[in-house]
Amino acid sequence: MDSIVVQGGTPLRGQIPIAGAKNACLTLMPATLLSDEPLTLTNAPRLSDIGTMKLLLESLGAEVSALSDGKVLAMSSHGLTSTRADYDIVRKMRASNLVLGPLLAREHQAIVSLPGGCAIGARPMDIHIDALTAMGAEIDLRDGYLHAVARGGLKGARIALRFASVGATENTLMAATLAKGTTIIDNAAREPEIVDLARCLRAMGAQIEGEGTPSIIIQGVDRLHGATHAVVTDRIELGTYMLAPVIAGGEVECLGGRLDLVAAFAERLHAAGIEVTETAKGLKVRRNGERPRAVDVITEPFPGFPTDLQAQMMAMLCTAEGASVLEERIFENRFMHAPELGRMGARIDVQGGVARVTGVDRLRGAPVMATDLRASVSLILAGLAAEGETIVNRVYHLDRGYEQVEQKLSAVGARINRVKGI
Ligand code: EPU
Repeated sequence: MDSIVVQGGTPLRGQIPIAGAKNACLTLMPATLLSDEPLTLTNAPRLSDIGTMKLLLESLGAEVSALSDGKVLAMSSHGLTSTRADYDIVRKMRASNLVLGPLLAREHQAIVSLPGGCAIGARPMDIHIDALTAMGAEIDLRDGYLHAVARGGLKGARIALRFASVGATENTLMAATLAKGTTIIDNAAREPEIVDLARCLRAMGAQIEGEGTPSIIIQGVDRLHGATHAVVTDRIELGTYMLAPVIAGGEVECLGGRLDLVAAFAERLHAAGIEVTETAKGLKVRRNGERPRAVDVITEPFPGFPTDLQAQMMAMLCTAEGASVLEERIFENRFMHAPELGRMGARIDVQGGVARVTGVDRLRGAPVMATDLRASVSLILAGLAAEGETIVNRVYHLDRGYEQVEQKLSAVGARINRVKGI
């Protein structure tokens, strides 16, 4: 497996282009299953997870062509041949479960492998199942697969999610577009990726109101048509690169960045004494020599501080002035980067879902192990600030969510390269 080698201590200067959002693209792609006309996505990120979703959709009989070097995905589901999402693909990527809602809506049946746990937590699917059951689906678990049938099609319903799950909101929203009657999703997730999905579905002819608020109202229609849709900017890639100059020093402009996508995160940066300014092209972040100040962080559903930026924020707080408390409220096991940061000299004490970080003057480079996607990038960020060489091993996860990370960081002056493994 490849490793990333970082030589720390160089301040960063320049511009980093931010790609389309992985997590938006992974829910927009299954939306193709809702229509027999083509759906084209522009501004798609070039990531291995997108390749996995392409394989899954193709296994169902959809056509998916990656054009313009992978930035455009031209899809068509006019001739679906299967309604079974196989374990071999689903186990690689939990987002595969996002075919369940669309298949039930269009084909009235689906067999989807249960994704199982992953490194960051158990991640069950009860909220998805409860919502689709309320819409008339019968869902049984057999041989590790969810067998779902909607005899006579899905029916609109008023559904209150027990937790504002991103994936459950997406599956229910897609399913409701073709259901008979009105569906109201209460306690819906409000993430920008949900808003992007609703916009795309509306361009396909769906009738949706209230996305971005806790109540989404969907009036079912008989069919959806084709559309072309540009994927929203990746707020997590944006936040990650906003932290790079905070950690390494210097000034970086993140092209395509928008403050409304990262408001809670930018507020914490401001509290840490970091300047974030909106420019005509994006967001500029500067650290003026001084170490950032310690700040406390609690992860919450949007519009709160995103769990997907917690690891990167922790890397920054390792060298902040003072002690910070980070509380992880979305996933039960998302501090696996803490012991690895500890190998670089960070002082972190983890008790359950709470990590106390005492800032040190300097981190020291070390060989470390990447455990999940966001943990991988947090170790690279820490390496930018560390004295000497950091080798981040097992970066397989990194390529699932960050395109051209070495190129983007070396373009602003970081000393970083990839060592190919076997
Ligand atoms: N949950 C349940 N039951 C369910 C669904 C969720 O208990 O039926 C729990 C989960 O176990 C978790 C919490 O609810 O503790 C949040 O899960 P949610 O369903 O909101 O997350 P998700 O849809 O599985 C998406 C992103 C994640 C991101 C979370 C939270 C995609 C493809 N994935 O996951 O992204 O962390 O929302 O914002 O959109 C990443 O990109 O690194 C990543 C993990």
